[in-house]
Formats: sequence, structure tokens, C-alpha cells
Amino acid sequence: MSMTALAPMPVSSPLPSALAGRTAVIVGGSSGIGLAAGRLLASVGARVVLVAREAARLESAVAGVRAAGGAQVLGLSADSAREEALEQVFEQAGSVDHVLVTAGAFAMGALLDTPREQVQEAVDSRLWSAYAAARVAARHLPAGGSITFSSGLYAVRPVPGVPAAIASVAAVEGLTRALAVELAPRRLRVNALRYGIVDTPMSRGAFGLDGDEAVAEAGRSSLIGRFGTADEAAAAALFLMANNFMTGAVLDVDGGAGLA
Ligand SMILES: NC(=O)c1ccc[n+]([C@@H]2O[C@H](COP(=O)([O-])OP(=O)(O)OC[C@H]3O[C@@H](n4cnc5c(N)ncnc54)[C@H](OP(=O)(O)O)[C@@H]3O)[C@@H](O)[C@H]2O)c1
Repeated sequence: MSMTALAPMPVSSPLPSALAGRTAVIVGGSSGIGLAAGRLLASVGARVVLVAREAARLESAVAGVRAAGGAQVLGLSADSAREEALEQVFEQAGSVDHVLVTAGAFAMGALLDTPREQVQEAVDSRLWSAYAAARVAARHLPAGGSITFSSGLYAVRPVPGVPAAIASVAAVEGLTRALAVELAPRRLRVNALRYGIVDTPMSRGAFGLDGDEAVAEAGRSSLIGRFGTADEAAAAALFLMANNFMTGAVLDVDGGAGLA
């Protein structure tokens, strides 16, 4: 019996401009880094599907991405921790080439103050959203397609007070490597972005930063003298989507904060 050789990963232009005409589903696309990725993708001519739970914010995000040059933008409301909901998203989205998962709550609380029940939902939501998105994506994406997860610098440079959150982002990094190997025979790629502090509604809320001046002041002591912008973080997602040689990577997008 002759063995059919597996076709290698397709070769295509690795430049983000090559994402024109491709479709990206952004799970967590109504705010922050996901929304910025939507705008950047639209500006290079990609079709964008934004997914989030809250309908009103999603609607204004769709309008914002359209304004960035995206004629083809769809907003679909779904809870990413529910695989059936994501399956419906993909069915409505049509053909999908790339998936970016930025959805994820931050489980606050020091070990001895925080019983499992208090952080379970946030931990579950982050890990199982990634897992569910990957299961659905693996059934739908073509060869060369990609899945990009979100992690944070705390996964490798922990701070006290948020052990469950750190465990959950570290789990997502492990999932990235596991799935990069498991899905390689399907010629699908799996990567993660490990962000430092990026100026978004989430980081402003988490650090209690009210207004641009407070953000600038808080960022001043970091290595480059400021936090990252959502666009800078999102641009790394476009790099991973476009480059078919990138898989199994956890890319630091942190302004060098991992060194400081
Ligand atoms: N910003 C930072 O400094 C930083 C640093 C390290 C890591 N990160 C991680 O990077 C990711 C993006 O951060 P961000 O700052 O852009 O966050 P963000 O501004 O809070 O945006 C999060 C997005 O995810 C959606 N979302 C949350 N849970 C969801 C769920 N269960 N189902 C569907 N959508 C969901 C939110 O919309 P709905 O609430 O309406 O669903 C929103 O669109 C997060 O996972 C965050 O933990 C961020």
C-alpha cells in the first residue's frame, strides 16, 4: 500500500498585506487589542468577524472597524466559553482563515483570600474559551490557517496577588504548544501573544487608571517609558496570521518589560 505524502504547509506572502481577502474571526473583538486587530485587518482588506458578549459595545465596534476601511465586517454576539455558540459563529461567518482569541477575564485575588469558587469562572472562561475556539477552528480552517491566543507577561514574570490568573494564562501558553504539534498535520498553526501592559479598557480598569495623563504617568517607569498601544499589540497578531512559518511561538509583545 502506498503512503500518500502529506502536503507541506502552503507558502504564501508573509506580509500582513497578504491578508487581503482573507477572513479573520476575532473572539473578543469589541474592545482593546481585539478591536484594534479588527481595524488593522480591515485596513489591509481582510474580512473581519468580531465576536463578544455584550451587543451594544459590539455594535459600536463594528461601526469603528467599518470606519477603518472595512466594508466587510460582521459582529456576532456569543460567549466564547460555549463551544456550541462558537460553532454557530463559524457557521454564520462563512469561510474563515484565521482566529484571534483575546477574550479572557482576569482572576483577581491572593491565594489565602481567594477560594476556588471565586476565581473558577474567570479561569474557566479564559482556558475553555481558547480550547473551544481551537476545537471549532480545527474543524473549519483551511491549510495555512492560524489560531492566535492571548497570554500575559505575568505567565513568566509573576507578581503576587493573582495566582489563578497567572495559572490560567500559563495554561493557555501550554495549550498553544500542544496544539501547534497536534494540528500541524492539518497544516494549521497555533501561536500566542504574551503582552506586557497595553493601554486598553481592561488595563485601565485593572490598574484604576482614569484618563490619558494617569496612563502616561503609570507607564513612565517602564523600560520604554510608556505602555504599549492596542495597535502595537494587535499588529503582532497580523504578523502571526500572515506568516506560515510561525507556529508554536509565544511572542513577547511587551516593550522589553520581560527584561527589566
Ligand atoms: N491589556 C493588557 O495590558 C493585557 C496584558 C496582558 C494580557 N492581556 C490579555 O489580552 C487579552 C485582551 O486584552 P484587552 O486589554 O484587549 O481586553 P478588553 O479591552 O477587556 O477586551 C476583552 C474583549 O473580550 C470580550 N470577551 C471577554 N470575555 C468574553 C467571553 N466569555 N466571550 C466572548 N467575548 C468575551 C470582551 O467583550 P464582552 O465583555 O462584551 O464579551 C471584549 O471585547 C485579554 O485576554 C487580557 O487578559 C491584556
